[in-house]
Amino acid sequence: MLWCWKLILVTTWMLHRHTGHAQEWGDCGGNITGQSSGFVHSPNYPGRYSNNLDCTWTIEVNEWEGVSLTPVSFNLEENFDWLGVYKKGVDNFISLGLFTGTNFTEKLVAWSHTIRLVFRTDYSYSEDGFKIHFEGNKITEKI
Ligand SMILES: *[C@@H]1O[C@H](CO)[C@@H](O)[C@H](O)[C@H]1NC(C)=O
Ligand SMILES: *[C@@H]1O[C@H](CO)[C@@H](O)[C@H](O)[C@H]1NC(C)=O
Repeated sequence: MLWCWKLILVTTWMLHRHTGHAQEWGDCGGNITGQSSGFVHSPNYPGRYSNNLDCTWTIEVNEWEGVSLTPVSFNLEENFDWLGVYKKGVDNFISLGLFTGTNFTEKLVAWSHTIRLVFRTDYSYSEDGFKIHFEGNKITEKI
């Protein structure tokens, strides 16, 4: 009987992994692990974000996967508010790009299973911020 329940549990888990609603993270920073995909958005999105923010999200997908990021929406106060994207190197994080204004327009593939997003805003003015989809893809998959 026990194996039967295990089978049901595993099946449910697999179905959930494939069909479950995409989770969304909107606090100022967070550690996101064990997710194969989801969304990260700036605090208060789609409303304006606050001034003086310093938010760090670390996203870790399966070891054999690389994270890809696709901007759904991106609008920051140009040259004053920034989103930095980093991937985990051997013993540090390596910059993949620093985005401001509406400059994050294309899918970014990190080829690393751990990436970090750092969102910093200055003391005045703000825009609607960003919403970004992240996804783990098998490193060998053609994307
Ligand atoms: C994420 O984890 C790191 C290391 O354990 C910790 O220092 C940091 O505060 C965590 N961040 C959040 C937003 O929970
Ligand atoms: C945004 O992208 C445009 C077009 O690639 C470029 O001309 C501009 O300098 C970029 N702005 C910033 C602030 O990086």
